[in-house]
Amino acid sequence: MKVIAIINQKGGVGKTTTAINLSAQFAKEGKRTLAIDLDPQANMTVVLSGGQFEFDTTISHVFESAKKHPISQSIVPAQAGGDNFDNLSLCPADIRLSRVIEQSLTKVHRERILLKQLDTIKDDYDLVILDCPPNLSLTSVNAMMAADLFLIPVDGGSFSLNGLADLLDALEEVKETDDVNYAVFRNEYAKANKLINNFLDEQLNDLKGKLLETTIRRTEAIGQASVSAEPIHTYKPGSTVINDYKALAKEVIARVNV
Ligand SMILES: Nc1ncnc2c1ncn2[C@@H]1O[C@H](COP(=O)(O)OP(=O)(O)OP(=O)(O)O)[C@@H](O)[C@H]1O
Ligand SMILES: [Mg+2]
Repeated sequence: MKVIAIINQKGGVGKTTTAINLSAQFAKEGKRTLAIDLDPQANMTVVLSGGQFEFDTTISHVFESAKKHPISQSIVPAQAGGDNFDNLSLCPADIRLSRVIEQSLTKVHRERILLKQLDTIKDDYDLVILDCPPNLSLTSVNAMMAADLFLIPVDGGSFSLNGLADLLDALEEVKETDDVNYAVFRNEYAKANKLINNFLDEQLNDLKGKLLETTIRRTEAIGQASVSAEPIHTYKPGSTVINDYKALAKEVIARVNV
């Protein structure tokens, strides 16, 4: 089992969209995939549950008391278009997560709660995808401890690279190594946007082998799919952006060896 954290403390760069559609792509390819929502906004939860908001237990319960609520009890089959999505499971989040995390500050080993829980289900899944919140809170630190690869989306907003250095510093600190396994890719890519593309190309040049070749194009279908609470794969099976997710999945797999 390999754990991939979709992380960037900047908001709105496409973390959740990537987590949803990359998970769906892996599941389509036959990988037993678990998508874990670590954001109290719970956007991924709503989409991968087909619009559901209420669950008996969520990741909040796990952080509250992993002893009482082991993660396996909070995992449900993912839904799309009224059906189970084969090979895809979801561990939902809810709004209580931020409060629960604050209260965890007094717990010993509080930054390893997720890591330890994932160890209990390591034979059940090939891949785990973590959708991180737009901050470097204790939830994100738990994701950092648990992840084998950090997948960092950046968007076309010309300031979106601000903060990348801070993020990499945080990853190095938590992982206690300066050789962190991370990969950056461009989301919401628009070919026609020459000015921004040239600017970003220049900035990203320094990343060398850490920059993926795949870009995820900007398309209206992405927003429409999330409004109708579906991955793009079931919302619009013929969409060209699925090819981008296929390419992303391939590059990601090559970096985690599953
Ligand atoms: N490739 C794309 N094409 C078009 N729209 C996109 C694309 N990727 C993301 N979006 C849109 O951009 C917005 C932000 O995306 P998303 O919620 O995935 O970002 P995020 O990084 O998870 O945000 P947050 O930091 O709040 O968690 C959403 O409205 C989403 O539909
Ligand atoms: Mg998000």
